[in-house]
Amino acid sequence: MAENNRLGFTSSLGAILAAAGGAVGLGNIWRFPYMLGQNGGGAFLLVYVLFVLLIGIPLMMTEFVIGRRAQSNVVGAYKKLGGGKKRWMALGVFGVLAALMIYAFYSVVAGWTLNYVVLSCGGKLQGLDAAAVSGVFADFTQGSFWPLFYQFLFLALTGLVITMGVQKGIEKVAKILMPVLFILLLLMCVRSLTLSGAAKGLSFLFKPDFGKINGSVVLSALGQSFFSLSIGMGAMVTYGSYIRKEDNLVKTSVWIAVCDSLVAILAGVVIFPAVFAFGMNPSSGPELVYIVLPNVFNSMPAGTLFAVVFFLLLTIAALTSTISLLEIIVAFAVEELHWKRGTASLACTLLVFLLGISCTLSFGPMKDFTLFGRTVFDLFDLLTASYIMPIGALLMTIFLGWCFPKVEVMDELTNGGRLKGRFVNLYYFILRYLAPLALLVILVSGIVG
Ligand code: PHE
Repeated sequence: MAENNRLGFTSSLGAILAAAGGAVGLGNIWRFPYMLGQNGGGAFLLVYVLFVLLIGIPLMMTEFVIGRRAQSNVVGAYKKLGGGKKRWMALGVFGVLAALMIYAFYSVVAGWTLNYVVLSCGGKLQGLDAAAVSGVFADFTQGSFWPLFYQFLFLALTGLVITMGVQKGIEKVAKILMPVLFILLLLMCVRSLTLSGAAKGLSFLFKPDFGKINGSVVLSALGQSFFSLSIGMGAMVTYGSYIRKEDNLVKTSVWIAVCDSLVAILAGVVIFPAVFAFGMNPSSGPELVYIVLPNVFNSMPAGTLFAVVFFLLLTIAALTSTISLLEIIVAFAVEELHWKRGTASLACTLLVFLLGISCTLSFGPMKDFTLFGRTVFDLFDLLTASYIMPIGALLMTIFLGWCFPKVEVMDELTNGGRLKGRFVNLYYFILRYLAPLALLVILVSGIVG
């Protein structure tokens, strides 16, 4: 592993934090609230949590099993464990392509976050009323040069980290900064909860209106749980290959899922009371967080300082996620195509930038360019989370549950019988029956309905 500069996690905590760093990101703080806002509030939360517990955790375990067993990138893993069969390798390639697509639109929002660090440092959001805050967002995102500039800056930053192979450094930083982000979110919860009108936001978030649940809400919640946990396209297969043989894959998965969901729910507790307190629309879409949070900061003592620190931490959370996205692609290029790590990072970064241009411009000059009634950004966002990841996950369950020996799965999960493996039978049942069936039904009803 060391010869091609891949990160090998050195401890259980390191593994949990690194994988949690990949999982916790814009998906929790940007995508979760906007999806929840568009999909009926509390009902979405309920379905989302159910998916994390019933399908998300078992699928994360599945990815870890595949990655650690194969000790390889996602394509190599399916090649090795699938006996060299082309169809399983194609599943790995599907994952790499998904990573490229996600990275293309994710980097747009990561660029916005970086811009918000700069804006808050310059006090540009200070003292504005809600309408002016929305105006700042619109002015920025509707342009071309600056959004592209920040997107490129973010891509370059990620590329640099991957090239230098300093993931360990980033992990060390993440170990300190992730808990700080958590504490900051807690503080912001206090502020949000004491705004007048907060109760409305809380009931929107926590009170499920069962009448709102339909095929598309269920599919969106499934997609969000996969996107947030980074499952269904090989991110956790890749990270799984770096987890030490003595670590407990069940515990690791549970911890990551709990941290990840907690951050998302906290983000919801910050956002929705503020949405209602400032008279905004919960279903305003991808801009939600960026037009709500500055108002929260403006109503806090030392708001500018909080804003700077918060957007900086969010940038870092996004960075640990983009690192995991780029790592999927680069690990594949290095191990399967025998490219140099630096060349692979540069080539992928440029490719993603090219792909990402149309995502960035979806908010400005290409706003009216739509496919299937959606902008390129929306299409990439929807396609990857709601279709590509669940389909990837479905095929993965068929591979590990039906086309791979059970004894080997059990061996990997129990570390060769050294762990008790209390839940492994339940896990295997979910892997073989519940998860594929549920995924199939949800995908079909989401597409049809
Ligand atoms: N889970 C990450 C987030 O929530 C996004 C991501 C998806 C990262 C897929 C890697 C792979 O921000």
